Amino acid sequence: MQLADFFAIDKLSQHDEELLIQSAMQLQQIMMLYEAGIREIKTKLDILSDESHLSGKPSPIDSIKSRIKTPRSIINKLKRRGYPISLQSMMENLNDIGGIRVICPFIEDIYTVADMLIRQDDLTLIERKDYIENPKPNGYRSLHLILQVPIFLSDRTQPVRIELQLRTIAMDFWASLEHQLRYKADVEVPARISDDLKACADVIAATDEEMQRIAKELHVL
Ligand code: GTP
Ligand code: MG
Repeated sequence: MQLADFFAIDKLSQHDEELLIQSAMQLQQIMMLYEAGIREIKTKLDILSDESHLSGKPSPIDSIKSRIKTPRSIINKLKRRGYPISLQSMMENLNDIGGIRVICPFIEDIYTVADMLIRQDDLTLIERKDYIENPKPNGYRSLHLILQVPIFLSDRTQPVRIELQLRTIAMDFWASLEHQLRYKADVEVPARISDDLKACADVIAATDEEMQRIAKELHVL
């Protein structure tokens, strides 16, 4: 079977076929790097969790999710931002090809986890956006870090950047539903509804603060 048949492409010259194979292999290698970067950071997070467990303290991490951006979504973002469409361009210009979301019980846990990662010698902090100190106008709250991780290959060390979003269970509740509503509603969300969503975010933030105060009074935090 010809490669053109495999991809259901009508005609493909020998040269184009070779180019397609080369690009597919390169993309696979790059995605492997991001998978490795995610794994590195997840291991560090697991160790922090294990450490608290052993010392009998509650873990500052409730759960961890990760994802790799799909090629389609990578290309769409490059186009949207006016960057060239190439493998090199995607590695240079996009910070969120590999993403990790860390969900913490309490607000202070977020900073405990972030500081612990930033302190590690092999990680470089590229960017820090604190949407908890400074929530987005729509009410979105989370701490965003872009971390650079070295990936040790057989013949070289390749750094990759990973986007980390750290938030409480309560912040995640709001962000997940707000995202769903925004994408599922096929109309532009009217201003009145945006105000309602913002009000929900503020109530949730107040509850987060209150739960943290209670945890402190009970000496759990
Ligand atoms: P983009 O990655 O293109 O959004 O640009 P950026 O890196 O400047 O954005 P930022 O760091 O502010 O946000 C990156 C990610 O945070 C998004 O891809 C979302 O996953 C999440 N995020 C940011 N703002 C919101 C929001 O208002 N609602 C929700 N649900 N998620 C958000
Ligand atoms: Mg981003």
